[in-house]
Amino acid sequence: MQIITEPCQMQAVVEKLRLNRQLIAVVMTMGALHEGHLSLVKQARSLAGTVILTIFVNPKQFGPDEDFHRYPRPFELDASHAKAAGVDYLFAPSPEAIYPEGFQTTVQTGAVAEGLEGMKRPGHFNGVVTVVTKLLHITKPHIALFGEKDAQQLAVINRLVRDLNLDVRIIGAPIVREENGLAVSSRNIYLSKEQRESATVLFRGILHAEKELAAGRTDLAAIAGEIERMIAGEPECRPDYVCFVHDNDFMTAETAEPAREYRLLIAAYAGTVRLIDNRRFTT
Ligand code: PAF
Repeated sequence: MQIITEPCQMQAVVEKLRLNRQLIAVVMTMGALHEGHLSLVKQARSLAGTVILTIFVNPKQFGPDEDFHRYPRPFELDASHAKAAGVDYLFAPSPEAIYPEGFQTTVQTGAVAEGLEGMKRPGHFNGVVTVVTKLLHITKPHIALFGEKDAQQLAVINRLVRDLNLDVRIIGAPIVREENGLAVSSRNIYLSKEQRESATVLFRGILHAEKELAAGRTDLAAIAGEIERMIAGEPECRPDYVCFVHDNDFMTAETAEPAREYRLLIAAYAGTVRLIDNRRFTT
């Protein structure tokens, strides 16, 4: 595995690979690699001859009160996981390499990024699509894989690719869970033993929705309210939002209609750690 830190060096490598008709897949991360990231790498390995993993903690997608400075950066460990998972190139630029002095051009998101995470984290998705656009131009992949845990991010990136005619195929990969149902996340390391236990309520909320919808209920807003109360009832937990959206445009859905696709989105705090989870349902 080769580690590359300079955008122009990465671009030179991928240009050569493309000339040699190599199929390239990229997995973009902010590091602190976990089973979710590694499952993306595994899928990338099965789809393409060359796999690039990017590690970049993107300052532009963190709000002023968020955890940018304390975000975990275990680079040596990440590099060894990446190598063991079969990554060919690890692209790990510095903030100055991505945002050099004078940087001023950004990508703006639209309606799909406005609610939910977009509302709770102003500017977040503009930061995400700006860096994703840059990383796509630097790594020039045929395929880019993203986890479905960040469901709204995936929808925003799909919109970006369609709207700007970016020549890449986006693949969403299923959420990886711990045995107790907790969705794996780089932020789980902040959780105490007790908080980790309480945080399983997000998954229990998903199972509650699954059961209620299977029983024929259509009152999505009421089910979301029940899940909020389940979360509020757990020690050290509080809901941020629980809501069903139409899976195609992420607009809120109050009542389920037959043969439609909805997504339940949950954001909640366990202590000071903000966690998200989701599940798609077809009625
Ligand atoms: O999902 C993430 O880890 C980040 O938002 C991404 C896509 C790597 C952009 O910084």
